[in-house]
Amino acid sequence: MCGIVAYVGGKRAEPLLIEGLKRLEYRGYDSAGVALLTDEGMKIVRAVGRVANLEDKLENLGGLQGTVGLAHTRWATHGGVTEANAHPHRDDRSGICLVHNGIIENYAALRTYLEEKGHRFHSETDTEVLAMLVGELYEGDLERAVQAALREVTGAYAIAVICEREPGTIVCARKGSPLIVGVGNSEFIVASDASAIVAHTTQAVTLEDYNVCKVTREGFRTSTIDDVEITPKVMQLELDLEQIELGTFSHFMQKEIFEQPKALRNTLRGRIDEYEGKVVLGGLTSFAKDLVKAHRVLLTGQGTALHAAMIGRYLMEDLGKIPATAEYASEFRYRNPIIEDGTVVIAVSQSGETADTLAALQEAKDRGALALGVVNVVGSTISRETDAGVYLRVGPEIGVASTKAFTGQVTALTLVSIFLGRRRLMSAERSMMLLEELKRVPERIERVLEQDRTIKRVTERYVERNNWLFLGRGYNYPVAMEGALKLKEISYIHAEGMPAAEMKHGPIALIDEGMPAVFIANRGPQYEKVMSNIAEVRARGGHVIAVATEGDEHIKTVAQDVLYVPDCPDCLSPMLTVVPLQLMAYHAAVLRGHDVDKPRNLAKSVTVE
Ligand code: F6R
Repeated sequence: MCGIVAYVGGKRAEPLLIEGLKRLEYRGYDSAGVALLTDEGMKIVRAVGRVANLEDKLENLGGLQGTVGLAHTRWATHGGVTEANAHPHRDDRSGICLVHNGIIENYAALRTYLEEKGHRFHSETDTEVLAMLVGELYEGDLERAVQAALREVTGAYAIAVICEREPGTIVCARKGSPLIVGVGNSEFIVASDASAIVAHTTQAVTLEDYNVCKVTREGFRTSTIDDVEITPKVMQLELDLEQIELGTFSHFMQKEIFEQPKALRNTLRGRIDEYEGKVVLGGLTSFAKDLVKAHRVLLTGQGTALHAAMIGRYLMEDLGKIPATAEYASEFRYRNPIIEDGTVVIAVSQSGETADTLAALQEAKDRGALALGVVNVVGSTISRETDAGVYLRVGPEIGVASTKAFTGQVTALTLVSIFLGRRRLMSAERSMMLLEELKRVPERIERVLEQDRTIKRVTERYVERNNWLFLGRGYNYPVAMEGALKLKEISYIHAEGMPAAEMKHGPIALIDEGMPAVFIANRGPQYEKVMSNIAEVRARGGHVIAVATEGDEHIKTVAQDVLYVPDCPDCLSPMLTVVPLQLMAYHAAVLRGHDVDKPRNLAKSVTVE
């Protein structure tokens, strides 16, 4: 969602801020803006659309001079996509200028209060309300004014604030939305995530909820909103520039699909004890006893992460031998859930910042569950709010459509299931066999990736079709859901994913001449049943694209197009069968001329409920 970059130091801020915004573009946004403290006071430039539009505007103005500034990419929540609603916002009295991510929930009451005090608003945003509030409370000390304003606010925020009367200072703060402070040599970059910082420094301070940080060229001071001073921890950012650059690929999504073998090798590295047939998960070891005694696992997440959680549910029951459910975090949270003793909740999330997942996790914790995280971003809020967890280690995911995080999540959940299973009922022989097969998943994905051209050719045949079905059973039912989601989000083609058996209960009415139906038809326990479902589609004129197991010749007699994946145990098949679906979605979006890495209306990390 929205992105923040702020700079104070000795360099010209404008190019640095624009470069930072470009690094944050992947988060999703619909307008952008910058504010600089210049010799002639505060200058603000904003534009609807891409950061490139903002750059054009700045160029036409001859550029802005100054070494302190703020920049922002906005993903609209309160108020439409207009220049007036774009950030930064300023107050009308004290020379305050502010950028904000999140939602100020009591903004209407605050706005009424401020209007009564004579302030006049120029936008529909909750952010302008916050800028006015800081201005209203300003008495010559920006840090104190920000602390005082935040004490009045309910909701979520990451903010960066500057003031004409204190030209060498940025004050930033967070609650619920991520914000880090990059620490350079007499220069500091405040940003929503590390990708906007690593080109300049790898040292950073992560702010906790309710932390306020005052940053000047000389250093920084961290406190709470009640002004209790805090000793911050400076950490090393584990991110290098190569990881966040395209290299030879055309899009980040493509790069990340092709990175999956390497990414999963990282997920597995050091976590398999081949001799004992055991999984070694340092993060879980001290909770092993609680896990063995657990009665139930509840997996939760949103979108792609939920699909991984759904596969996790099958894995937990099949390999971990523990009752498991998987559920949308947004629904779990509000249905007054019953959490019995011995419940383990597993929050699955790439970003570790998804508001619904975080809220569900907190709900489960409050009701006594042991909270685990399966998260990619190190140090993210979910990773910090859980009792223990497993990092995906797949590297930064920049493409808005999640790909390598999905296979990383499924790999990590497989490890957790075997970790549990071996401590419950799974034999050493079975776990040794599964771990051996798991280690071979990356090389098998490489074999699927080699078929990229074939997958593109098949996609070309159907790309004009506006309605698609994705069908699978068992472990591959969530993969069908994931295939449909990938296609929807980047190619804007309507697609439905569902259990293949469900088709007869209604959706079969959709099938007409030439409608593409993608079946995940690998050789698993339900292969014959899937064949029957394929026959039902064919009988009604639908076109079947089958994802099948190498060596299956029969499938060619029933499906118009076949994409092969290597043979493997059914429980590991999702990591292979999803790859052709990711590539189909990618090619469909490119063929339709869409901006794959910046799909309309989407944000990479959804930090509002
Ligand atoms: C789809 C996609 C989203 C995310 C969802 C959860 O490609 O990226 O559906 O999976 O917003 O995000 P995380 O995993 O960051 O919690």
